[in-house]
Amino acid sequence: MNNMKNITVVGTGVIGNGWITRLLANGYNVTASDPDEKAEARTRDTVSRAWEKMEKMGLAKGASQDNLSFEPDLAKAVANADFIQENVPEREALKQTVIAEIDKHAPEETVIASSTSGILPTVIQEKCTRHPERMLVAHPFNPVYLMPLVELVGGEKTESKYIERARNFYGGIQMKPLIVRNEIEGHIADRLMEAIWREGLHIVNDGVATTEEVDASIIYGPGLRWALMGPFMTLHMGGGPEGMRHLLKQFGPALKLPWTKLEAPELTDELAEKVIEGCEAQTGDIKMDQLEERRDDFLIELQQLLEKYWPGANLNGQL
Ligand SMILES: NC(=O)c1ccc[n+]([C@@H]2O[C@H](COP(=O)([O-])OP(=O)(O)OC[C@H]3O[C@@H](n4cnc5c(N)ncnc54)[C@H](O)[C@@H]3O)[C@@H](O)[C@H]2O)c1
Repeated sequence: MNNMKNITVVGTGVIGNGWITRLLANGYNVTASDPDEKAEARTRDTVSRAWEKMEKMGLAKGASQDNLSFEPDLAKAVANADFIQENVPEREALKQTVIAEIDKHAPEETVIASSTSGILPTVIQEKCTRHPERMLVAHPFNPVYLMPLVELVGGEKTESKYIERARNFYGGIQMKPLIVRNEIEGHIADRLMEAIWREGLHIVNDGVATTEEVDASIIYGPGLRWALMGPFMTLHMGGGPEGMRHLLKQFGPALKLPWTKLEAPELTDELAEKVIEGCEAQTGDIKMDQLEERRDDFLIELQQLLEKYWPGANLNGQL
């Protein structure tokens, strides 16, 4: 752990609680802030349920669920923070107000990171009157306590030294920080996921397959390979000994067809029902917390497997 000790997490829903769990497991003191009076009980329950997983992943020295305190007053919550992670609902005006308030009260060198999935950092930092240069986006993936990727994105006013500081911080809590060179809607991974989701909706809408069949096409197909290699390396291997060079010759022209529809289908009531009923039929009697349990155990073993077969996952030590 570096010299940062006290982390403040603002907004303790699905994502905030994921951050809190990861931070506590990595030995930090966490101050949480959320106006909802049920928030504290919900957070403590979430952390305690996930703790066994964190033990499997390996706890840092001094890690304890007791290193968590709640402070509903935002100004007090951030006053002594060494690093701040914001996770309030995805609404532009709310993000701007909360981040500006944090900027007003946080120590001047403290990084303020937002978990936003889709709002650009330039927009979020617009209302900061003191130090917008230490504000950036750090976009995680659910469940944050197990998923290593975090996308770091600076806005027009962000200074690179804070991105560097954030990269070191997240690397220190067993994450893979990926610096996004230019701010774009949806950053990188969500943009890719949205493309697949959009095509999946077309396939269901056109009656070609059920939600279960679409999921199976990923689970037993590309999903298995993607866990190791991602889309580019997967295609590189599909080109035989010449790799991507041959593959582009063979399949490049097909990009002109194209196979995909690019625009999302209209989300009609009928399509929404089809998708909801499809997912509910897939889960059957299994409850959401049982599914989470299964997903978490799987993710732990999968990461161990990835580390065994491709340590650093071909990132040449960049991440
Ligand atoms: N859910 C995901 O899969 C996911 C993944 C990555 C990033 N994100 C991003 O994380 C952020 C939070 O998403 P979520 O899914 O955890 O939302 P959520 O609705 O589960 O939680 C939001 C929390 O913020 C609290 N809140 C509301 N106003 C507040 C305020 N003024 N100050 C402090 N707390 C306040 C709410 O009480 C609630 O506990 C969003 O920006 C979202 O885009 C979500």
